[in-house]
Amino acid sequence: MKTVKFPAEFSWGTATASYQVEGAWDEDGKGESIWDRFAHSEGRVLNGDTGDVACDQYHRYAEDVALMKELGLRGYRFSISWPRIFPEGKGKVNQAGLDYYGRLVDELLANGITPFPTLYHWDLPQALQDEGGWADRGIIDHFATYARTCIDALGDRVKRWMILNEPFIFTFMSYLSGMAAPGIRDSGLALRSSHIVNLAHAEAARAMRAAGSAEAIGTAFSMAASYPASDSAADRAAAERHHAWNNDWFLRPMMKGEYPAAYLDQERAIERMEVQPGDLDRLREPLDFVGINLYSRAICADAGTRKNIDVRQIPGPGPRTDYNWEVWPAAIYQMIMRVTKEYGRPPIYITENGCSYKERPGADGRVRDDRRAAFYEGYIGQVGRALAEGADVRGYYAWSLMDNFEWAAGYSQRFGIIDCDFEHGQKRTIKDSGYWYRDLIARGEIAYDETLA
Ligand code: BGC
Repeated sequence: MKTVKFPAEFSWGTATASYQVEGAWDEDGKGESIWDRFAHSEGRVLNGDTGDVACDQYHRYAEDVALMKELGLRGYRFSISWPRIFPEGKGKVNQAGLDYYGRLVDELLANGITPFPTLYHWDLPQALQDEGGWADRGIIDHFATYARTCIDALGDRVKRWMILNEPFIFTFMSYLSGMAAPGIRDSGLALRSSHIVNLAHAEAARAMRAAGSAEAIGTAFSMAASYPASDSAADRAAAERHHAWNNDWFLRPMMKGEYPAAYLDQERAIERMEVQPGDLDRLREPLDFVGINLYSRAICADAGTRKNIDVRQIPGPGPRTDYNWEVWPAAIYQMIMRVTKEYGRPPIYITENGCSYKERPGADGRVRDDRRAAFYEGYIGQVGRALAEGADVRGYYAWSLMDNFEWAAGYSQRFGIIDCDFEHGQKRTIKDSGYWYRDLIARGEIAYDETLA
């Protein structure tokens, strides 16, 4: 074991997303989002749960900021709800929506916490979905306008921004597997939307940069370190294709203006994306930092179907969280080192990392979630290892500040370092893992196993 000290300015925080915590789904002029529609449709979300109230952060943000302060957090990653700002996705701005985020930002700053907003964490205005959503090129300009509107309103106080949260999930999961809103299953649309998102991503970055107030603009990418299932050349190639698709499909276009080789028949994939002349030139708009959301890893074997990316994932031997995700701390180290190597040591933020465990308050009110603290100790240790070995890691954001609406799994999964009692007025209780995190931040150092692979 070795020990690493984090720099004094290291940005320790927690992350949430608008639809998962805010509630107030139709208040103060907010428009309907695709997640409102999805959750209000029968059979889409477990137990019929919705984000109508969620953690009610819209009304309780001051209480939540006070909790962050109690834990010694230095940053808060939250997302802005597009339909609060543009109820129809475009056209008329809803000032009350902008005012809400202004109040939240002011409250954070007054408590010494850096606001770190994401512009898009999946709650697309339903009105834009009705026009084709991310599969329609019209969205590129609407998104850039929305981005510019947010930075014009908040840029005097917010200096560090994320454009997207997990583009891989809101294209391939939403349009291919149908597991997320709008719940479509169409591989052609999935591919096309991935290209349009890449174009919108770059356009939004340009619009934000034109405003001149941002110090750093990045995006939070969902990543899962790709491990080959065996040493065979076929499995190693499969792991590379998985990496290209899962981890790099939205990063490489932005950084280098090109698509990584993910598909066996890449030419056909590009054709199905309906790439138009001039598009490739517009893709490149290098980010100032790379945000990594990482929970687990992917063990990849050649699937032998000779179709698409042709990868079969194999369950790993590591312990499991209550959401059945494999706990494999070295995955975060591997991922950071790979991005560091492939992109010339860019600044990196871990924008999400965490675990779902069910522990609730006991009779004495205490939440003894030792498994979560152990998870964080393992993963944050490996983040420290990457730092010690030369990666430029600037911050770490635990997912999540508190238990919240876990998408299609509703309230069945608890990712918070703070308990939220959805049955009793959204009462908050800091879990043992929250105090563990507070102590870690205060100490600023952690031990890690430098031999994990
Ligand atoms: C998302 C979060 C989500 C978390 C746990 C990430 O994919 O950005 O919104 O709650 O993982 O599933």
